[in-house]
Formats: sequence, C-alpha cells, structure tokens
Amino acid sequence: MDILELIKSRRSIRKFLPDKPIDWDKVSKCIDAARHAPSSGNLQNWRFIVILEPDLKKAVAEAALQQWWIAEAPVVIVALSEPEKAERYYGVRGERLYSIQNCAAAVENLILEAHSLGLGTSWVSAFDEDALKRVLKVEEFARPQAIIPMGYAAEVPSKPPKYPLEQLVFFNVWRNRLRDPARYMRDYSVIIARGVRAGKEALKKTAEKIREKISQKQ
Ligand SMILES: Cc1cc2nc3c(=O)[nH]c(=O)nc-3n(C[C@H](O)[C@H](O)[C@H](O)COP(=O)(O)O)c2cc1C
Repeated sequence: MDILELIKSRRSIRKFLPDKPIDWDKVSKCIDAARHAPSSGNLQNWRFIVILEPDLKKAVAEAALQQWWIAEAPVVIVALSEPEKAERYYGVRGERLYSIQNCAAAVENLILEAHSLGLGTSWVSAFDEDALKRVLKVEEFARPQAIIPMGYAAEVPSKPPKYPLEQLVFFNVWRNRLRDPARYMRDYSVIIARGVRAGKEALKKTAEKIREKISQKQ
C-alpha cells in the first residue's frame, strides 16, 4: 500500500478479536519501526514495555482512567521517555519538548507499522501517570508517554472528520493563504493538466452546440 493510503486508512481500534493472538514477530516489527523514528540529536531516549499478563493489562486499563477495553487487547505496549537524557544535552527544551516529540514520532511509526501488518491499535495518553508508573514499576527518571493496545480489529470504525488542507496551511507567514498554490510554486504539470482539461471541456461544449444546430435544421 502507498504510504499515504496507509496513513489515511489507519483508524483507532478499541475492540479486538478475543481469540486471535499476535505473533511475536509482528510485535517486534512494530517496535523495530518505532526505534527507527527520528529523535533529537539521535538520542533515542525511549523505552517500550510489552505487557502480556492479563492482570497487568487490567491494572494498566485502571490507571488509564478505567478505559477497560485496553485490557481486552492481546498485547499492550507502553512507550516511555527518559527526559533526563534529553535535558543533559538540550536543557529544559530537551526535557519538556524533545522528549515528548521523540516518543510521539516513535509511537506514530509503531502504529503505522502495526496497521501495515493488519493489526489494529489505539494511541492512549489519558492515564494517571503516577498510577501507571507504580503498576509497571517504572523508575523515577522515566515517563510513560503512551499506551498502545494492539490486536486484530473487531470493528471497522468510520473515518472521523479531518480538516481540509486549505484550512491548515498558510504560506510564508501566519494566516496567509494562497488562492492558487500550484501557480505560485510554478508547478507546470498541474497548470498544463488544468489547461488540457479546460481545452477538453471547451471542445465538448462546441461539439454539443454543433450537434444542437444540426438537429434544429433537420
Ligand atoms: C495524544 C493522544 C492521546 C489519545 N488518548 C486517547 C485515549 O486516552 N483514549 C482513546 O480511546 N483514544 C485516545 N486517542 C486516540 C484519538 O481519540 C484518535 O486518534 C482520534 O479520535 C482520531 O481518530 P483516528 O485515530 O481513527 O484517526 C489519543 C490520540 C492521541 C494522539
């Protein structure tokens, strides 16, 4: 599948087939994708806890503000950051921003790889951080960033609305929109294709008019 198609077709999955386990090979491929994400200064200050124990999954679901559906996933992965490592190199910005961004990039890679392997996931960040750390015996210096329940989907969620490009993109400066970005960027392939389309339309209209005139004469 084309990468854009893959990105667009991924959905958050919150119901999993109960009797279909996941091969470890697939789980490890997902984490492998995560570890290849970009990170500030290539610090890779992330860790992943793979949870398979049913009681532990329930405790994680409880810590995630009682999102009990998490416990139904065959595998639950928790992505964690080590902010101190980033702080050592980049100060407050490293600790507060880069650490979160690094982990987010890894999580996105992970869920996209899962989707490409036919697995459903969700990105869950609504949790009680202290409670989750206690449950997973996480050392003081690490911070859980996301819980990723994973399994074969037992639902086909409809696509939630996504804002159109025009609404999200400014050119050069904040709030500046362009009516015709292709023309501004001298994207001749688009401009020529438009011309060809317009030419075809014009030809079609002329042909219709001629046909009308002929039928009127008959
Ligand atoms: C930072 C973040 C936190 C999220 N936390 C939760 C969560 O706690 N529980 C949940 O069910 N979904 C959570 N989601 C998933 C979003 O609800 C979901 O991505 C959004 O509704 C768009 O749907 P889609 O993923 O199918 O495109 C979270 C997503 C992100 C990126």
